Amino acid sequence: MNAEFERKLDQLKRVANDLVAPGKGILAADESTGTIKKRLDSVGVESTEETRRRYREILFTTPGAEEFVSGVILFDETLRQSSREGTPFPELLKSKGIIPGIKVDAGAKPLAGHPDEKVTEGLDGLRDRLAEYAELGAQFAKWRAVISIDTDKGHPSDWCLDANAHALARYAALCQEAGIVPIVEPEVLMDGSNSIEVCEDVTSRTLNRVFNALFEHGVVMEGILLKPNMVIAGKQAERQADPREVAEATVRCLRRHVPAAVPGIVFLSGGQSDELATEHLNIMNQLGPHPWELSFSYGRALQAPALKTWAGDESKAEAAQQAYYHRARCNGAARSGDWSE
Ligand code: 13P
Repeated sequence: MNAEFERKLDQLKRVANDLVAPGKGILAADESTGTIKKRLDSVGVESTEETRRRYREILFTTPGAEEFVSGVILFDETLRQSSREGTPFPELLKSKGIIPGIKVDAGAKPLAGHPDEKVTEGLDGLRDRLAEYAELGAQFAKWRAVISIDTDKGHPSDWCLDANAHALARYAALCQEAGIVPIVEPEVLMDGSNSIEVCEDVTSRTLNRVFNALFEHGVVMEGILLKPNMVIAGKQAERQADPREVAEATVRCLRRHVPAAVPGIVFLSGGQSDELATEHLNIMNQLGPHPWELSFSYGRALQAPALKTWAGDESKAEAAQQAYYHRARCNGAARSGDWSE
């Protein structure tokens, strides 16, 4: 191994471990322009560059959140925005000891030849974009693959899983080359009517292919984080599994597929209620010790109460920060299985 690569590897390992430091997790605030518009619409706020900036500023300037938040994932626009005082967001976060990250995929697009299945795009030009993001202060990145379950149609197909695993592995290898920690996110969606057993099977097939592809592409396991879904029944399913069942199935599935060299697993919340997302993480950590840290990289489950409280009303900005702080503290406690309402 040459000295330059060794230095890069040390940095990757350090950042990956810092992101899953005890009691801390990641805030996903990387909604694309389309997704943040949906979120702002839901509370009656028009999505403009300024409302998007102000909403993110409220979250990022929350006093004390850094005790529970190790890193924040930003969207391209947000990475280039600044606080009211003119401090660029990456700098503002760093001054609080929070690591800035960046979403680098270009979204899930229809997979040609496979109706109703998707593949995530964004590999073209990624090497150059990563170099620019590193200049702007990003130390880790995220790429999300979207897998939907439809048992009647035989989805996900093996081909869809392979196409997404291949893209995730190429992204991860490019990130490591640039000295940026890749968060590898294969999300099996929870919006179908499938049982928890089907979700476990699909999550297994997905992770199996993702780790094979990562290995084949020479990705160093010590320098990545995995961001998976939990193993859970689809939202429309008749029988919803109880929280302990979800926690046990998720841990079983991860133990079968995720190498022990991976420093941490940071879950997405995927549409679970904020409290359930905390409860699931809490139980999983009570089931430990595990070979990896089990943490959070929540979007909606960290932000929903804050967004609702703020709803564009400046007089509510502080109350919104308190709501975000509360969720961050609850999830921080769930990191060690010590959460209670
Ligand atoms: P949710 O926690 O809202 O699923 O968002 C996490 C995320 O980053 C999805 O890509």
